[in-house]
Amino acid sequence: MADADSRAGTRYATGEVLDWTARVHAGHDAALARAFTEPERSGMPSIQLAPSEGKLLTLLLALAGARTVVEIGTLAGYSALRIARALPEDGRVYTIEADPKHAAVARGVVGASDVGARVTILEGPALEVLPGLEPRGPFDAVFVDADKKSYDAYGRWAASHVRRGGLLLGDNAYLFGRLLEESDEAAAMRRFHEEARRAFDTVCIPTPDGLLLGVKR
Ligand code: SAH
Ligand code: DHB
Ligand code: MG
Repeated sequence: MADADSRAGTRYATGEVLDWTARVHAGHDAALARAFTEPERSGMPSIQLAPSEGKLLTLLLALAGARTVVEIGTLAGYSALRIARALPEDGRVYTIEADPKHAAVARGVVGASDVGARVTILEGPALEVLPGLEPRGPFDAVFVDADKKSYDAYGRWAASHVRRGGLLLGDNAYLFGRLLEESDEAAAMRRFHEEARRAFDTVCIPTPDGLLLGVKR
């Protein structure tokens, strides 16, 4: 078994190596650059996916042949654009955002992009919005990136509404390093992992904060 440092992947992934490879493989055009910088510009938390994580979403969804995707947690629309880029022209990502200010900023960002017609921003708490989406399913993928205490509920919703072969993706699967703590939030995140494992074939990709990937059985 490798020692703790190499298990944690800290030996080779230096900041400079990560920056260089992200630039080569996951660079931004104008629309992605605006979506990426908008949270800081607009006084929102700057908690969007990293460029390489966003590009990974694009490639995984393209591989899965995704046409209809649900995202929980829009922020300024960076990951929504990364998802939309994977879809055919008549594809659709329904992205749910509880904070009206974030939703308004995202509408501006997405509307100015080349893939605005593929993105529908739904405003409200996800647990209230998701039931209204059910008639549009089953979905090719669900990406979870909102309030961590509800990940277990989001994962159960995905298990019921993602088609066979479709994807579950969950950011922050290490819960900022707190996954194994004794808290309600950590227990909910552990349930997300364990319940996802039953409905999906799963792996937790070791991004800095963990990205759970599941393929629906
Ligand atoms: N996926 C985005 C980042 C999302 S940040 C990206 O990578 O670009 C998390 C977002 O979830 C925040 O905008 C926050 O307002 C939103 N959020 C928090 N709780 C929510 C809930 N219950 N329902 C919907 N959105 C929620
Ligand atoms: C936070 C939320 C996220 O989804 C993330 O990727 C990083 C941080 C947060 O709430 O602080
Ligand atoms: Mg996140």
